[in-house]
Amino acid sequence: MDILIKNCRVVDETKDFVGDIYIKEGEITHYGKDLNYPCLTIDATNLVAMPAFIDTHAHFREPGFTYKEDIYTGSLAALKGGYTLVNLMANTNPVSSTLEVVDYVLNRSKELDLIDIHQTISITKDFDGKTLEHLDYLDSRVKFISDDGKGIQSNLTMYQAMKKAKEKGLTIIAHEEDEEIVYINTRLSENLMTLRDIYLSKITGASLHLAHVSTKESIEFIRKAKKEVSNLTCEATPHHIALYDLDYNVNPPIRKREDVLAIVEGIKYGIVDVIATDHAPHSIEDKEAGAPGISGLETAFSICYTNLVRTGDISLNRLSQLMSAAPGRLMGINKGKIKAGYDGDIVLLDLDKEFRIDKNDFISKGKNTPFNGMKVYGQVVATIRKGEIKYNGGINY
Ligand code: DOR
Repeated sequence: MDILIKNCRVVDETKDFVGDIYIKEGEITHYGKDLNYPCLTIDATNLVAMPAFIDTHAHFREPGFTYKEDIYTGSLAALKGGYTLVNLMANTNPVSSTLEVVDYVLNRSKELDLIDIHQTISITKDFDGKTLEHLDYLDSRVKFISDDGKGIQSNLTMYQAMKKAKEKGLTIIAHEEDEEIVYINTRLSENLMTLRDIYLSKITGASLHLAHVSTKESIEFIRKAKKEVSNLTCEATPHHIALYDLDYNVNPPIRKREDVLAIVEGIKYGIVDVIATDHAPHSIEDKEAGAPGISGLETAFSICYTNLVRTGDISLNRLSQLMSAAPGRLMGINKGKIKAGYDGDIVLLDLDKEFRIDKNDFISKGKNTPFNGMKVYGQVVATIRKGEIKYNGGINY
């Protein structure tokens, strides 16, 4: 699709100017001032155009738990949140341990033609905590392996998984949780496993991406490690950035104010690479029965914009880097920047729009959010993927 977006503030990790973006046959070819092409034209005066967001961490629950979410509703929720690419975790039923699950998810996503999806494969087969042989049968579509939702308890298994990941060029997304210690101390549980895996990645050379970092100690371990190694990245979630001292069931838990401050410092100084939603939709019944998680795709931008940019902690460029360019680099894909040759994936935002989050407005089946009723700024107005308007929350053209 060819499309011209005119008269907006164009922002990515390095740019910030008022002008236009031209997308031809799905790819960005030109950006600048006073562009004119005979094609579908959007007047985006007073809006900001940023590269659409990329989520390294989401749960769409299909196959197996489609009463919580499915690929269709998850994709629509992603678009409403400004996302055009999500990486899905493996805790489905069956567990995503085989290329059959990858085929199924990617075929469904292709058929829907809404967003792009990467499907993660589990580190251990069916999350059994020990079997790694299935990792010998993957193809180049698989970039990430993770048992997210569960930590790898055995040191030997994680050591061998890292050796295999290094050999096969896979990145390990690590959910850091010691299943014994977590019952007495959730902080120690995360910190111990984080330290172990940073050390294992150092000695194996495997690429390690730490999921949902939530403690000030973990931020400190990562800060120190990054001085020595280049194969370590990490993500923080909007809820661990914006909330503290709150009893809402999510894993890892909402921590203390000092942890939030450490994460925000980590974001400012490049310790945190990526903001990921950990979109974890659940039914009301499952939530009441103790399922941890937050339905996060539809609130991520406004939470981060309100709590990081409007506070003066970071620039909009840096937020774009955290939500688009850096995850794009991690996924090795031509998305996440306003650049010729990159996919024409753009989110249009009304930054001055103030509104209250209402879980009943969510497209996601999961209405589980601690942000319900919260006043925020920055609304997604439209999401464009490869030059096609996939979500329109109010633009005329
Ligand atoms: O709160 C969480 N929910 N944390 C996880 O790691 C898994 C997720 C889920 O799948 O529900």
